[in-house]
Amino acid sequence: MNVLLAATERSDRADRWHRAFAALLPDARIHRWPGDAPSEVDYALVWKPPTEVFRRVRVRRAIFNLGAGVDALLAIETLPADVPVVRLEDAGMAVQMAEYAVLAVLREFRDADHYVRAQRAGHWSPLDRRDKSAFGVGILGAGVLAQAVVRALSPFGFPLATWSRSARAIPGAEAFAGPPALRAFLARSRMAIALLPSTEATRGLLDAAAFAALPAGAHVVNLGRGDLVVEADLVAALDRGHLGHATLDVFRDEPLPPSHPFWHHSGITITPHVSAVTLVAEAAAQVAAKLRALERGMPVTGVVDRSKGY
Ligand code: NAP
Ligand code: GLV
Repeated sequence: MNVLLAATERSDRADRWHRAFAALLPDARIHRWPGDAPSEVDYALVWKPPTEVFRRVRVRRAIFNLGAGVDALLAIETLPADVPVVRLEDAGMAVQMAEYAVLAVLREFRDADHYVRAQRAGHWSPLDRRDKSAFGVGILGAGVLAQAVVRALSPFGFPLATWSRSARAIPGAEAFAGPPALRAFLARSRMAIALLPSTEATRGLLDAAAFAALPAGAHVVNLGRGDLVVEADLVAALDRGHLGHATLDVFRDEPLPPSHPFWHHSGITITPHVSAVTLVAEAAAQVAAKLRALERGMPVTGVVDRSKGY
């Protein structure tokens, strides 16, 4: 079996992928892009591969995306249309998303920033406890990562809701589905956490109209992809005081350019796309298990529906 590894973002990471796959797939010959790429392989293991990969190498069985989001891969015009694309499902990312979301929600609900400022100013400044029943947390998305966020937030007793394409019943969360339900979902979301993929249908979804539909003082958290948000509309909604805060982990341009206004906006908290990082050992184990299943003629989960874009 011939396998191509094309994960060119960081060479140290590519070495770790190579070692992990070599240990998990001892029968496979693992070729590295660009070094020893043959003209044909059975499987490709890729993360943001150059366009050239699919021009030079024919992939016969499947392409494994070494991440959860497939937007970058599906945007490659040379990606073969007839080869299944399989994405990562959880692989150690769900717990990370849950940690990040819980941190963001509790930071806001427990007024952590107020107390940091008060301590710096030497002020003893207790605030009234917030009304939890009015602190709706809405998660845009109801997939693998959103479900982990719902599970992690459930014990705190916030009114939880999800919004997805199809109606999905997740215990402990009210389910909203489709564009007609978006306004009602946003209207009850004091915190709105985006965990959607970037697709034709979701790009620019969080725009002026969406921000206006959120309750006054709402906090937007984007953990999905940067292009879900219309940046100028977000800044305008923060500047006019309708939105209280935004916590952003993903951006249209990454790394966020040094001159970008988000860096120094007092209403924005930034992290550098770290809410859920790909863990090489977990991810490689999942990919290797699916690859072996395909070799046995078994079906696998996580096959991307190209018509939907995720
Ligand atoms: P997933 O399991 O495929 O879930 C995607 C969810 O989005 C599903 O609930 C889906 O609805 C919903 N959705 C898709 N298009 C929609 C639309 N047009 N309207 C309403 N809902 C829509 O994906 P996942 O594993 O949870 O990952 C979600 C995204 O997180 C990834 O695509 C990636 O962009 C991002 N991510 C970010 C990081 C990070 O570090 N920041 C790390 C990993 C992943 P249905 O349930 O109806 O299908
Ligand atoms: C990271 O953003 C991923 O999609 O895995």
